[in-house]
Amino acid sequence: MVNQDLDLNIDLEEEIKKLKKKLNAVILAHYYQESEIQDMADFIGDSLELARRAKETPADVIVFAGVHFMAETAKILNPEKLVLLPDLEAGCSLAESCPADKFKKFREEHPGHVAITYINCTAEVKALSDIICTSSNAEKIIMQIPEDKKIIFSPDKNLGRYLQKKTGREMLLWDGSCIVHETFSEKKIIDLKIRNPKAKVIAHPECEDAILRHADYIGSTSKLLKYVQEDEADSFIIATEPGIIHQMEKAMPKKKYIPAPPEENSCSCNNCPHMKRNTMEKLYLCMKNLSPRIEMEESLRMRALKPIDRMLEMS
Ligand code: 13P
Ligand code: SF4
Repeated sequence: MVNQDLDLNIDLEEEIKKLKKKLNAVILAHYYQESEIQDMADFIGDSLELARRAKETPADVIVFAGVHFMAETAKILNPEKLVLLPDLEAGCSLAESCPADKFKKFREEHPGHVAITYINCTAEVKALSDIICTSSNAEKIIMQIPEDKKIIFSPDKNLGRYLQKKTGREMLLWDGSCIVHETFSEKKIIDLKIRNPKAKVIAHPECEDAILRHADYIGSTSKLLKYVQEDEADSFIIATEPGIIHQMEKAMPKKKYIPAPPEENSCSCNNCPHMKRNTMEKLYLCMKNLSPRIEMEESLRMRALKPIDRMLEMS
């Protein structure tokens, strides 16, 4: 579909660069963004690194090439800044699985628990939580909770199960999952391993246990990127969203990266449909129109900030 606001003759890259200068903007992108967007970004990172960058940036405008909860986190950390998201509909199945009213009820039904909540949730759910975490700091945060304290972990049950095993802590798990990471096929990964016996399987902890069992290494997107750079293997089966492969190929071009395939009945790739809503055209238009932007009521922002600040202190 052709966007009426878009002049088809312009050089999008050049125009985005000009707008960036004019607005004193910074473009932050998640690894799951399409390659062209990653190449335009000032900083590419995982959820934790992006939150840290958003907190520290001296720019006046933050253009967030990621999904809604990430841009919302940037706004919570920077109330005075303009935070733009190329497509306001770029959501997340984990955030959707955990509506604030149901989460509030769940907490009330289990008093005396510390609520550690994965950053993939809405500002309302953050405001109802004690500590936020990401896949790169969750283990470290859980280890700092006193042994006698009960924990509620939300909303990703797969990450929660993985952390239970890693830390030995029993946790009450919310029943949510990521539509991308739950679709990998165990059978196809086994077939790939047989055909590529030297390849190492590396997986994001949002994957189901059946996949994680085959992994040589499990970690957040940044940790997976670091692993392929440091490990001696020269081929890897990648069980996470394939957007990360762009940075792997840039960092270690001679190595081979095989995207783990999904189940038969899902689409032929594991692209996150939310992340991939952002395009270069929408990136340009949001900077040109200063919209869509993230807006938030101040009292909600203040409540959501507390557990994010606790995360940053503890990680
Ligand atoms: P990380 O960026 O923390 O690895 O999380 C992956 C993810 O699914 C983001 O939505
Ligand atoms: Fe959400 Fe999964 Fe997409 Fe990440 S990959 S934004 S967790 S749906």
